[in-house]
Amino acid sequence: MRSNGQTEWDVDIHLLRKYDRPGPRYTSYPTAPQFSEKVGPRQFLHHISNPADRHRHLSLYFHIPFCNTLCYFCACTMVITHNRARIAEYVDFLIREMALLSARVHGRKVRQVHWGGGTPNYLTPDEIRRLSDAIHAYYTVDSDVEMGVEIDPRDITEDHLRAFRAGGFNRISMGVQDFHEPTQKAVNRIQPEAMTRHYIDLARSLGFESVNLDFIYGLPFQTPETFARTLEIVIDIRPDRIALFNYAHVPWMKKHQRVMDPQTMPAPEQKLQILKLAIERLTEAGYVFIGMDHFALPDDDLAVALREKTLYRNFQGYSTHADCDILAHGISGISQTPFMYAQNTKDFRKYYEALRQNRPATERGVILDSDDYLRREVIMRLMCDFELRFDVLDQQFEIQSRDYFRTELSELDEFIQDGLLEFDDNGIRVTRMGRLFIRNIAMTFDKYLRQSKEMRFSRTV
Ligand SMILES: C[S@@+](CC[C@H](N)C(=O)[O-])C[C@H]1O[C@@H](n2cnc3c(N)ncnc32)[C@H](O)[C@@H]1O
Ligand code: SF4
Repeated sequence: MRSNGQTEWDVDIHLLRKYDRPGPRYTSYPTAPQFSEKVGPRQFLHHISNPADRHRHLSLYFHIPFCNTLCYFCACTMVITHNRARIAEYVDFLIREMALLSARVHGRKVRQVHWGGGTPNYLTPDEIRRLSDAIHAYYTVDSDVEMGVEIDPRDITEDHLRAFRAGGFNRISMGVQDFHEPTQKAVNRIQPEAMTRHYIDLARSLGFESVNLDFIYGLPFQTPETFARTLEIVIDIRPDRIALFNYAHVPWMKKHQRVMDPQTMPAPEQKLQILKLAIERLTEAGYVFIGMDHFALPDDDLAVALREKTLYRNFQGYSTHADCDILAHGISGISQTPFMYAQNTKDFRKYYEALRQNRPATERGVILDSDDYLRREVIMRLMCDFELRFDVLDQQFEIQSRDYFRTELSELDEFIQDGLLEFDDNGIRVTRMGRLFIRNIAMTFDKYLRQSKEMRFSRTV
């Protein structure tokens, strides 16, 4: 037992092996394969303007899809460009989109802002200022707003960080992936440890309250031994949060991933050893395993929210802002209201054309029916609270949840036998080890997975 009350993890490799199968990440339910072109600009505007939601707070997402160089593993929606005029033009259209959307949500408070990418710091400091000034001009931004930005330290300067701070940003999330040099070379991303450390120190000294670092396991030349060294460095840096993603190998969608030789990538068994090692080392060092790919220091908001059962999940992963609708800006961005998900086109030409005509660039999405709405709540409670209370569900949805989910509940035996789940009189509770397999447990309640077992997803752990 540690002094902070946590016990360390001893991860069962047999269970990792057993439950290592494809599955969705449940940043939404229904998940993206259910999105269709039936949802377009008209439905999107109708749902974001719904008077019944005017008390709900907002989370704004901005997609900045540009990068300087290509990382061969990348599965993000991004383009490599050195054409600065092209980037400046995109910023103009983001501002047009703000003008269009903000008029529909007038007076609603913005509690969270996130810039993702691509690489938001590939904008110039002037562009960062223009865009953040526009956010504050068009929207009603709360005084204690949480503003986060994804950063690549290879393309940042102190001026960029200062521009973000001046724009109200108080969190950064930095891509690292691995400190191991042969891995960095193989993925075309040379990022010296000293550079990463320098910008983290600088960000902290400029007053950014929280630093997250992203890592990936499954990349070329990674072994448990090389990753142990990377973990030592991470633990020494002590970021507030750590994301450790399973490498999503989707060469049929991202052709550039074929540049990497699969022979150099760790075999499935080695990947699981890396994951086991990472969970054990990070929790030993005092990090709380939040669930899915996330770790946080015990006093970080995410760890506090996990303890207090106020955690929430959306397209940016785990979040502490439960009651927000998401308004997405930029290509590929996904907006969310209580009964709708709507995604913008990924095509620049179509995006510009729509905004020139003063209409949203919505291309597809899904409207939730009552069953979707209920199942989303079940999946979110499992993923965030790691328990399901039948009486709460019965009251909230006026159902008999034990009857409604009779089939699903009868299929949980295997998880119980493996010590991942416990039943009591009034619900189910995911054990600490079960958190590692939360996607597998949640999949039991996914109606669409039942209907189509053939959907292609990345692996669950
Ligand atoms: C938009 S990037 C972060 C900001 C910046 N572009 C950078 O790379 O530093 C988001 C994160 O997605 C993760 N990522 C990208 N491609 C991935 C893949 N194929 N599998 C798993 N994670 C991936 C990386 O960890 C990356 O840091
Ligand atoms: S990982 Fe980040 S920097 Fe690399 S190509 Fe993808 S979005 Fe760009």
